Parts: sequence; structure tokens; C-alpha cells
Amino acid sequence: MKNHKDNKGRPVRSYVIRSGRITNSQRQAIGRLWDDHVIPFSGDLLDLGEIFQNSLPITVEIGFGMGSSLIDMACERSDANFLGIEVHKPGIGKVLKGIEKLGIKNLKLICHDAAEVFNHAFEDETLDRVLVFFPDPWPKKKHAKRRIIQPEFVSKVSEKLKNNGCLHLATDWSPYAEHMIEVIDKIPSLSNAIAPKVFWENPERPETKFEKRGKKLGNRIWDLLYQKE
Ligand SMILES: C[S@@+](CC[C@H](N)C(=O)[O-])C[C@H]1O[C@@H](n2cnc3c(N)ncnc32)[C@H](O)[C@@H]1O
Repeated sequence: MKNHKDNKGRPVRSYVIRSGRITNSQRQAIGRLWDDHVIPFSGDLLDLGEIFQNSLPITVEIGFGMGSSLIDMACERSDANFLGIEVHKPGIGKVLKGIEKLGIKNLKLICHDAAEVFNHAFEDETLDRVLVFFPDPWPKKKHAKRRIIQPEFVSKVSEKLKNNGCLHLATDWSPYAEHMIEVIDKIPSLSNAIAPKVFWENPERPETKFEKRGKKLGNRIWDLLYQKE
């Protein structure tokens, strides 16, 4: 399967880095806490057992934004490790502040493109859950290639999941929900854990910041749960 490239041969990214809008306290948290909690991306395989100093199950959240759901989950589940991947520095700063304030031990971050992280950093069949909550919808047709949910990316995610591991997705935009079903239903190793083409009502997860915004606008929320077989 091919990865999308632009007309200069560069990979098409699912995000745009926006400068500015980082607060002083987020910037200071990055300076103070980065080395202890942010795992550098070098392109080499990560040793997750060494990083977390235990062999508890691992949940990866892709694109955690300002990270409130990630912090909530890590606090609720001391029996699991959490790894958040995000490119947006204010979100990294915000979560670092939360880690310090709440003394969270089971949460690490990676500040890099999740597509590259999944291509290089994880051994096959090492992750228990992968979460993609409210990914950028890229609603214009000409931008559809930028959506993170693409066949090659989901295949890679599936390779990294353990058997019976789960991929949980959520969106507030129904065309993206349909796109997710269309893409993921074609990945032979993943099957809808609720029922074929059926959304997950009352999903087990905290509400995210983006979700709150969508609900205020009157949007419906669509969750999907896939399991690796
Ligand atoms: C619409 S926001 C949703 C944030 C959060 N999940 C929420 O529900 O509030 C999508 C986030 O995904 C991040 N993102 C998009 N593509 C990414 C990628 N390839 N790697 C890491 N983060 C990515 C963006 O920076 C952005 O913060």
C-alpha cells in the first residue's frame, strides 16, 4: 500500500503546526519536565518495558490535543501505561503540567508525527489499545488525503496491536465516521467489536475538549471500536 505524497514527493501530513498560542506556564513546563516525560523520536525501536519500568498493558492515544482525556484515563487506570502522541506544543506543555501536579507515573509523551512513530518506533504486537479521538476531519474533498485514517496507517496500527487489542475511534463529523468504517472494514486483521458497521453507543472514555466543542454546536458523536483478530 502506498503512502500519500504531495507533488514535490513529500509525505502528506495529517496536521499543520500552528505557531503561537502557547502560554508561559506551558512553555516553562516544557523546559522543566520535557526530559523526564517526553520520549525522543529517533526513528529507532522503543523499548516500552524499559521506558515504563514495568510490563503493564499499553494504551497509545494519537493526537491528544490539550490532553484532558489522556490525563483522566492515566489517573483512572494505574494498572495500565499510557503513551500520548501529539505534535501541538501547547498540548504537550499542558499535559506535562498535569503530570507534575497530579504526580502521574504511568504516562509518557512523544512529540512527533504519529504516522512516523507507528512506522518506526513500536515492535509488532506490543500495544493493547490505540485511541484516535476526534482526529482533524479535513472536510474539503481536496484535503481528504490528509485524514489520518488511511488504509496504510490503519494497517500499520493493526500490526502494532496485540491479538485481541483494540482500536477505538471517535468523531463528531458523520462523513468522517463513514470514511473510518469504509477504510477499517477493508483491513482483514480488524473487525468491528460491536457488530458489523455498528457504532459504539455509550463508549467507555472521558469526554474530550474537541468533543465538548462539537456537542455545543449540536453535533452527534460517533464512536467505533475495532478488535484485532
Ligand atoms: C481535532 S484535534 C483533537 C484533539 C483531542 N483528541 C480532542 O478530542 O480534544 C486533533 C489533534 O490531532 C493532532 N494530530 C493530527 N495529526 C497528527 C499526527 N500525525 N501525529 C500527532 N498528532 C496529530 C493535532 O495536532 C490535534 O491536536
